[in-house]
This record gives sequence, structure tokens and C-alpha cells, in this order.
Amino acid sequence: EKGGYPHFMLKEIVEQPGCIHDCMRGRINIEGSNVVLSAVIDYKEKLLNAKRFIIVACGTSWHAGLIGKHLIESFCRIPVEVEYASEFRYRDPVINSDDVIIAISQSGETADTLAAIELAKSKGAFIYGICNAVGSSIPRATHTGSYIHVGPEIGVASTKAFTGQVTVLTMLALTLAKEKGTITQNDFLSIVKELNMIPEKMKKVLELNSKIAELSKIFTYAHNFIYLGRGYSYPVALEGALKLKEISYIHAEGYPAAEMKHGPIALIDAEMPVVVIATHNGLYEKVLSNIQEIKARKGKVIALVTEGDTYISNIADYCIELPETIECLDPLITTVPLQLLAYHIAVCKGMDVDQPRNLAKSVTVE
Ligand code: M6R
Repeated sequence: EKGGYPHFMLKEIVEQPGCIHDCMRGRINIEGSNVVLSAVIDYKEKLLNAKRFIIVACGTSWHAGLIGKHLIESFCRIPVEVEYASEFRYRDPVINSDDVIIAISQSGETADTLAAIELAKSKGAFIYGICNAVGSSIPRATHTGSYIHVGPEIGVASTKAFTGQVTVLTMLALTLAKEKGTITQNDFLSIVKELNMIPEKMKKVLELNSKIAELSKIFTYAHNFIYLGRGYSYPVALEGALKLKEISYIHAEGYPAAEMKHGPIALIDAEMPVVVIATHNGLYEKVLSNIQEIKARKGKVIALVTEGDTYISNIADYCIELPETIECLDPLITTVPLQLLAYHIAVCKGMDVDQPRNLAKSVTVE
């Protein structure tokens, strides 16, 4: 049932191009000229009149939520807050009837996320769910929503569900922006066209598997890791660090790259591997200078760069070259090598990657 792979996690990482394709099927037309999420069309009034979105989730799904905030705010110009469900539910949060809650959960069974939904519902908010497990408790508790359709995820460390959630959030932001008129037709078309090409580009990233496996051997016995990214890549840094912690038990911190100088830079020495997401998009120049700051302190830089990059490959200790895409879709490309890096390091350490200690696939207790 592992399809010839040694672990479910690797199978699920490798499946991602097909999963993203399945997630988009019937929602994006072949010509790439339109995106239709039926839930958005059915509840258009509610969603278009929302004064604010509040995303509630836990763990990896919360990281997807951070990317969703960036997407929805950029394309739809609607304010979005992203909350840990466990904090939100106990804070007596301000919730109005014109708020829309977006609950994100792979399993659809996470107790804190479910409780956050019930609380928001009792205050009259409209609830949109983004889940994977069909017929689970969260889709049943929401007013509407979209399944991510990536198939069952068995590995405790979430991989394909994350990229599926980000894909749904992208389609949600695009559909809303089009209805709201906050995106130009040109921008809309170029993003949809690029989104259609993501599965093929992910396949290219997966070809780096053996190179990443080799790289992992160098860092198997590291005690700490820092992951840095800015903009759309900041949540990817958090996700990369979480993957490593969960399955290899190496302490890892994800940070927005520019925050480093406000504290974590003190940790950097020759023993500290720093993974930097430094693709051509976004604040490339700024990230480049963040890398120089790390090198000046002898940190070991593993950089994710765009194919053909010359500047960063000269300074970084190790480079992973990735196919180019547009800024807002970068997480769908940059997440994959970080999943592989965590996977191979954990395998080198001899850990049980599919069932790491102390963790359960669905957290049904608070
Ligand atoms: O099923 P959910 O998406 O609601 O689960 C949320 C978290 O428990 C989950 O993402 C957890 O952090 C994973 N182990 C991450 O790999």
C-alpha cells in the first residue's frame, strides 16, 4: 500500500504533482482561463460582503493559513487574520456576523479547530471549511467549503495536504478577486496559467530527490537548524522547520529572514545550518544581504534558489536550484525540497518517519 516506497511520507511527497492536479480538476478549465470554486459561487453574497476573514487552524494547516492571508489580502483587499484555533477558542475573541471564518484542517477532526468553529458559529459568523477527509466532523460543522481532494494522508507529518490547502486557498482568492473586481483580467489569467503548470514544475523538483538525500547526510547530526524566508516564503520556512522537528527530532526554528537581526542571529556560528528560501521573487536583494550576514558569522547556508541563479550560488555553501514560478505560487515549489530534506535527515538518523514519537495523525483532544 506504500506503492513501492519505503515510507508513506515519501510516497505522499512524490504524489504531490498528481494531487495538485486532482485538487484543480473541475475547478480550473483546461485553457486556464477560469477558476470556479462552487462553494464561492453558491455563497457569493456572504463571501463578497465579508468585512474580514478569520482563518483558524493548527500546525501545518495554520502555516497554509498564513499563505492564505497573503493571497486573499493581495488579490481581494479584504483583511485577514490567522489564528491558532487553540488560542482563539479561549480568548473571547471579537467575532461579528459579517465575519467569515475559514477553518483549515487535513483530518477534519482536530478538536481545537472544531471548537473554534462552534464558537464562531454561536456568534453568527459564516464558516467556510477547507478539509481533506471527506465526511469528517469539520466539513459537517461548516456552512460550506471546499475539499482539497489529495487522497488519504497516512504519514503523521503532513505533506501533500499542505500543498493541497495552499492550492485551494489560491483558487479561493482568485475566484473571490474576480467576483469582487479587485484583480485585472491580465493578472488573473497569468496566475491561472502558471497554477496549471505547477504539477509539471513539482515533478522537476522531485528529480532533485537524490541530490537532497546526499545533502542530508552532511547534516544528519546537526543539533539545530534555522529556516528563513520572507513574504510568501516565511510560512514555508515555518513549515520546513516543523517538518524537521517532527520526524528527525532536531530542534529547528523558522523565522522571517529580517527578524534574524532582532535576536536569533546570536545563535549563528559554524555549527549552525541555516536554510534560506531565496528564489528570484519578492525581496531577493534583501534575502541576499541576510545570507551575507549569516556567512559573516560562519553559519552554513543551504539556499533554495531559482534555476540559473548566480549571486547566491556563489555565497551559499549548498544550493538547491528550483524551477521559476511567480511569487504567489512559490510556496508550492519551495515546500517540496524542504519536505525531502526533513525526510532524508530523519531516515539517515534511523527514525520512524511515518509515526514519529509523541505525535498522532489527528489531534482529537485539546
Ligand atoms: O488535521 P489537521 O490539519 O487539523 O491537523 C493540524 C495539525 O495537528 C497538523 O498539521 C500537525 O501539525 C501535523 N503533524 C503537521 O505535520
